[in-house]
Amino acid sequence: MKRVAVVGAQWGDEGKGKVVNYLADGFDWIVRFAGGANAGHTIYVGDRKYVNHLLPCIVPGGRGRGFLGAGMVLDLEQLANELTSLAQDFPGIGTQFAVDLEASVVLPWHKQEDVILEGMRAEPIGTTGRGIGPAYTDKASREGIKLCHLFDERMLAERLENTWNLKQNLYQGRLTMSPSEVVSTLIQLRDRIMQLGVEFTSAVDMAEVFHGTSVLFEGAQGVLLDPDFGTFPFVTSGSCMAHGVSSVGFSTFELDDVAGVLKAYTTRVGAGPFPTEEDSDVTRDIRERGREYGATTGRPRRVGWLDLPALRYAVVRSGLTSFIITKADVLNGLNCIKVCTGYRVAGNVREIPSTSHDFFVAEPVYEELPGWPSTEHVNFLKYMTFIEEQVHVPITHISYGPKTDEMETKGSLIMGI
Ligand code: IMP
Repeated sequence: MKRVAVVGAQWGDEGKGKVVNYLADGFDWIVRFAGGANAGHTIYVGDRKYVNHLLPCIVPGGRGRGFLGAGMVLDLEQLANELTSLAQDFPGIGTQFAVDLEASVVLPWHKQEDVILEGMRAEPIGTTGRGIGPAYTDKASREGIKLCHLFDERMLAERLENTWNLKQNLYQGRLTMSPSEVVSTLIQLRDRIMQLGVEFTSAVDMAEVFHGTSVLFEGAQGVLLDPDFGTFPFVTSGSCMAHGVSSVGFSTFELDDVAGVLKAYTTRVGAGPFPTEEDSDVTRDIRERGREYGATTGRPRRVGWLDLPALRYAVVRSGLTSFIITKADVLNGLNCIKVCTGYRVAGNVREIPSTSHDFFVAEPVYEELPGWPSTEHVNFLKYMTFIEEQVHVPITHISYGPKTDEMETKGSLIMGI
């Protein structure tokens, strides 16, 4: 049974949604294992565009079903709205999804806390404001609510009351929604999601199903935003690595392939180190041509050149076994493409950063490669070969446009050149 994980190899926004959607038809299950509505995974069905924040990027009406795993933090209002809007075009689509009762709930006050904390930080992280940090904090500090608690209303009310008292002390009474309002909102949302056909289950009950079927794991954000290995503290709070599949009961040893999605250049949204960032006419043009504005927040993304040390780091940290390159078409027409091949840290050039701190102090060392007029040009092939030789991981697919079918294997691209 095929097991593949797709994870972001950079700072997120690499195009994982599109890649997962392209691969989805070959799998029985498409599983999101971490993150929440901070993600914005764009898919196309024909000419229609959909942005999934929580739902896995299944093919609507296709063979694969979507599973939302225990490592996720779920904003139930967002989930219900996402399902409702998809159901307008694909009636009954809710039945194509199941969710783990062990997943955590993003409570209304988590979003308030997110905004309050950002406002108080000396150096704001630039969060998406979706309550992600506070929801994961509550999980770690054991104050959080899990989906299974929504089926025991007495316990839910008690836990929310206790947590609310604790938080009102911490936040000096600034949280607006009362525990009883939160209880009734959550129960209504639970019922709405069930009416939409979503199955509430658990990875325990699903274990046999999963082990007898093919599974595609859909990562969120990117390795460099991972709280353990990314550019801490400018990271998100959920796992961005392939090892996040453990929250669904899998081990990384069971994966046949860990595909890292990389953009032909680099972007990052929010604050934090970004060694190859460049603010020039060329990169501003790349931002426009690549529509580099956040799918969740609409913020303009910071733009820079491809960063090979960062990719090597992602390969080691997340055990990447292949790459899928996206948005190569955005660089079409440039005379020269810069690529960072090393980091100068404390006077020495390193091929790979050894700690996340290196990203804060690195000076990028560049090589320049000739550009290409289109991705069918031999110079683009040379660019891919250069990346593969430098990073020692094969590129298997190339995506050259936002639509699902604007993607092909490297083999077929080479045949066409
Ligand atoms: P949070 O996940 O909302 O707490 O945001 C923490 C950091 O991760 C911020 O810099 C966000 O911009 C960034 N971030 C979170 N989700 C995404 C994503 O899906 N793509 C790119 N950046 C993200």
